Amino acid sequence: MHVQPQRALQLRKLQRPRTGAPGYAPYACAIVLLVSSISSAANAQDAGRGRYLAKAGGCVGCHTEDKQGAVPFAGGRALKTPFGTFYGPNITPDQQAGLGRWSEAQFMQAMRNGVRPDGAHYFPAFPYPSFTQITDGDLRDLWAYLRTLAPDGRRNGAHELKFPLGWRPAVRAWKWLFFTPGPFHSERRAPQIDRGAYLVEGLGHCNECHTPRNFLGGLVRSRHLGGVKGPAGKGVPNLTPTRLKKWSDAELTEFLTTGITPDFDTADEAMDEVIRNTTSQLTPADLKALIAYLRTLPPLPEEPR
Ligand code: HEC
Ligand code: HEC
Repeated sequence: MHVQPQRALQLRKLQRPRTGAPGYAPYACAIVLLVSSISSAANAQDAGRGRYLAKAGGCVGCHTEDKQGAVPFAGGRALKTPFGTFYGPNITPDQQAGLGRWSEAQFMQAMRNGVRPDGAHYFPAFPYPSFTQITDGDLRDLWAYLRTLAPDGRRNGAHELKFPLGWRPAVRAWKWLFFTPGPFHSERRAPQIDRGAYLVEGLGHCNECHTPRNFLGGLVRSRHLGGVKGPAGKGVPNLTPTRLKKWSDAELTEFLTTGITPDFDTADEAMDEVIRNTTSQLTPADLKALIAYLRTLPPLPEEPR
């Protein structure tokens, strides 16, 4: 068939956008794919960092039932305290039983301020008085990690608590007295010491056991990490240089990775779990920083028994 040159030109003009569109589509697709693969790589990276932070925070211990075959993070661990028994809740992304319907902002609110999505206050058996120090970036990474867990439908039971301190509305007053919210601030020390402080005071929540509490369950600040007296073999040791100066860095590293003390004793249950879940999982640089920070604590005398 013969087409006049003039007409052919018009046809080509008309066709250009049409042939052009499919021509661009592969590029558009490639760009979309590229962008989405960059962002999913970023998410995977965040979740990877979050997984490490979850170890440094010991989340699995309190949020996993203490029995064979328990699903990690699906809750049910009994935590006995003078105020009653708490059960660490399910923090997998299950829609009903876990955090499936939570937003990142609600998670940050729980960790930073100890406030539940419905506005009620969390009991400090959830160590948010320490976790409040976790930085925004680290909280986002922790959240990204929790979102990657397989949802599990294990239902939370109620805590078994004693009145009045085991009464949720009383926590508001408790927080007013003893809780200072806010992320960690560098005190312009050497970066290694700051990192160690962040791990010990924030994520690692070492003071939740190593600092004595008053009768209302508030930490006694003047005895920060100074140990808790108890019947022989039941106390929690002083982590300030008064006691730890006897241990070399190598000995402390050994204890915090294997649970074996310089006299070939082993850590008891509570600390053994911290070592297994937390300190043995730290990178060598982080463990070094943690120890370096403990060395800088003001030495406190042992509490009289
Ligand atoms: C020492 C035990 C302990 C550790 C360690 C711990 N939690 Fe919890 N957590 C609890 C308890 C107990 C509660 C419930 C508090 C309440 O009901 O008031 C809780 C509640 C929560 C909640 C709110 C859940 C809900 O259903 O409302 C989130 C989120 C959470 N923890 C995340 C974490 C993360 C993340 C970590 C690690 C960085 C962590 N927890 C470490 C004991 C712990
Ligand atoms: C759940 C409570 C608990 C938490 C949290 C905890 N500890 Fe301990 N820790 C203990 C107990 C109990 C002992 C005594 C262990 C023993 O006698 O075998 C101990 C012992 C130790 C010792 C040995 C000290 C000595 O002189 O014998 C070191 C070091 C130590 N903890 C460091 C830490 C650090 C660092 C953290 C934070 C990352 C931490 N602990 C968090 C309960 C805890």
